[in-house]
Amino acid sequence: MSDKSTTTFNGAIGIDLGTTYSCVAVWENGRVEIIANDQGNRTTPSYVAFTPEHTLVGDAAKNQCSQNPRNTVYDAKRLIGRKFTEPSVQSDIKHFAFKVKPDETDKPLIQVTYQNEEKTYHPEQISALVLAKMKEYAEAYLGQKVTKAVVTVPAYFNDAQRRATKDAGTIAGLDVVRIINEPTAAAIAYGLDKKYTKERNVLIFDLGGGTFDVSVLALEDGIFEVKGTSGDTHLGGEDFDSRMVDFCLEEFKKKNKVEIKKSSSDDREAKAIRRLRTACERAKRTLSSAPSTVIEIDSLFDGIDFSLVFSRAKLEDLCSDLFSKCLVPVADALKNAKKSKAEIDEVILVGGSTRIPKVQQLLRDFFSGKELCQSVNPDEAVAYGAAVQAAILTGMDSTSETLNQVVLFDVAPLNLGVETAGGVMQVVVPRGTQIPCNKKDTFTTYSDNQPAITVQVYEGQRTLTKDNNKLGQFNLSGIPPMPRHTPQIEITFGVDANGILIVSAMEKTSGKSEKITITNDKDRLTKEQIDAMVAEGEKFKDEDEKQRQRIDALNGLESYVYNWQSQLDNKELAKNLSEDDVTSVKAKLDEVKVWLDDHKSESKETYDAKMAECEAFIKPVIEKLYPQGGDAGGMPGGMPGGMPGGMPGGMPGGMPGGMPDLGGLGGLDGLKNMDPAKLAELLAQMKGGQGAGPDDDLDEDFGSKPAGEPKIEEVD
Ligand SMILES: Nc1ncnc2c1ncn2[C@@H]1O[C@H](COP(=O)(O)OP(=O)(O)OP(=O)(O)O)[C@@H](O)[C@H]1O
Ligand SMILES: [Mg+2]
Repeated sequence: MSDKSTTTFNGAIGIDLGTTYSCVAVWENGRVEIIANDQGNRTTPSYVAFTPEHTLVGDAAKNQCSQNPRNTVYDAKRLIGRKFTEPSVQSDIKHFAFKVKPDETDKPLIQVTYQNEEKTYHPEQISALVLAKMKEYAEAYLGQKVTKAVVTVPAYFNDAQRRATKDAGTIAGLDVVRIINEPTAAAIAYGLDKKYTKERNVLIFDLGGGTFDVSVLALEDGIFEVKGTSGDTHLGGEDFDSRMVDFCLEEFKKKNKVEIKKSSSDDREAKAIRRLRTACERAKRTLSSAPSTVIEIDSLFDGIDFSLVFSRAKLEDLCSDLFSKCLVPVADALKNAKKSKAEIDEVILVGGSTRIPKVQQLLRDFFSGKELCQSVNPDEAVAYGAAVQAAILTGMDSTSETLNQVVLFDVAPLNLGVETAGGVMQVVVPRGTQIPCNKKDTFTTYSDNQPAITVQVYEGQRTLTKDNNKLGQFNLSGIPPMPRHTPQIEITFGVDANGILIVSAMEKTSGKSEKITITNDKDRLTKEQIDAMVAEGEKFKDEDEKQRQRIDALNGLESYVYNWQSQLDNKELAKNLSEDDVTSVKAKLDEVKVWLDDHKSESKETYDAKMAECEAFIKPVIEKLYPQGGDAGGMPGGMPGGMPGGMPGGMPGGMPGGMPDLGGLGGLDGLKNMDPAKLAELLAQMKGGQGAGPDDDLDEDFGSKPAGEPKIEEVD
């Protein structure tokens, strides 16, 4: 390729880096082109061989495998980003013909003899050689230098595995512009030309050479969302090959009274097994379209030829348990995605092993005879989708309507929110929300004439911010003097496509605002940390719920006390009470305030009891004010001006005069199901009777998601 060095391809290529086979594709002339390798094959074995002279990659490596089994490396994808001592690595290396040992940091090292010297390689380096080969094929095809790629990984890959894959790209001289999930790529390939007005659920059944992945995705308006995944990391074509090999070895032994041992360290035996394996794989492929085939190997072992007629029925019989096993992750993925079989609009076949008729039949039967979607070439679908994504990301064809239809879509991995009173995490962007996104919530102040607030931004699944991960904080000052619970501070969380978060806060009357930008690379969590936090969040759900109730009870009591205090300062109201009543209630409130100062971490029950005590004390006084007693509906009606609970969220457990439903829940949630008209009326009254109905913002913020709890802590 003479002009390779002169021009550089503007766009990016898409690479499916498979366990057993890899595939490369590129967007060109308004469509995806799957790039054939130097042998004319559209997929290339993910094999690397080391010889006394050179390294071989792909078909050349796989073809010489039987002559050089110890120095032919495959399945690097099973090792990448993992620790040597991991159980899965330990069990995998038992089956490898090449040696694997740990490095000083417990990463696996592949040991081979290269140019007659002992050499070791990390899995990233092996994958890099495969990626470099794919890059080379693309360069040969395009006649240009390629520098950028989108590389796919299984949906279950963790952060370390993704990062290691990206590193492999870097080693190969590729800027990996994005790592995307294989099922997402396959779904893109499938969904590209289709326009749907309503959401479609698809199940991606990816049975490859070494691994089996099932994913349920929701497709809508060019958006692809992974709803649930499952799989088996050790189920695929190679297992079917192994069964065939075992059968052939038995036959060979029966016929010739000569045994070829599978786990022998004898090179001759290893070589024979390798040749048999290659022949079996070829036969297996033939059996997907023909009812029978012949496996023929000259001089397999000890000069003995091997020949056997192999039928599809025989293959099905040998692998029947493995084939049936494929349905387990299907059921599991549906369960994870909370979808029934009937809700799946399309079952998409991906991976070379889905060409096996029996596998298709079992799957069809599982979905009650549903036709399986085969419009996508199973070997190429993943690379196809990666090429589409690559074209979008590099703006290769910005006028293409087909491309513009696709929006790739990610979700927030953890809840994002701010700290509110009592150290409670108020979620603004729930885990699983599509990103990019923009979410708003309204908050208020904690004390009278509070001049500023501190917005503390957290991510995590726990109720209390102390158990979550702090991302940053900022102050919003210059809030005009107002009674507590009156200012409306709108906090907006905006997350862009790269996971960059911008949090802004705006005080509505003054229009003053402040913001902070939080990027996702530093200070953010790794995938493992995220997983651990999610698991922890689940584990501590009950405990957290108790904490929440406890803090609600504390806030409720506090609010109650302060509200009554301001109530008594209201001359209009106080004039209806005797001086004795005012004095005794005030004294009681002072007493509770002092008590509260010393009792910040009591149980919910203790606060409830204190509340009951307060209510019992104050009730006779209220009865003097409202002799009929307050029924639920009539409660706020008679209360002039500053009704206790300046804002809905602030309504204490035992609302004076009743409203048991609201009161009992002690705050936010109690308003959720409230009739909007009633809420509007209540809000108007709470605002001192000036406002008539709720304004637009209130409707949005309080109606659907009640705010108002004294949420943001004071700035000292
Ligand atoms: N016609 C066919 N019939 C049966 N099996 C086939 C056929 N064509 C390919 N295969 C098998 O498909 C497997 C390779 O599939 P694929 O290329 O999807 O795997 P991969 O992507 O490398 O693996 P993985 O998804 O596990 O990373 C091999 O085991 C191969 O033997
Ligand atoms: Mg694959």
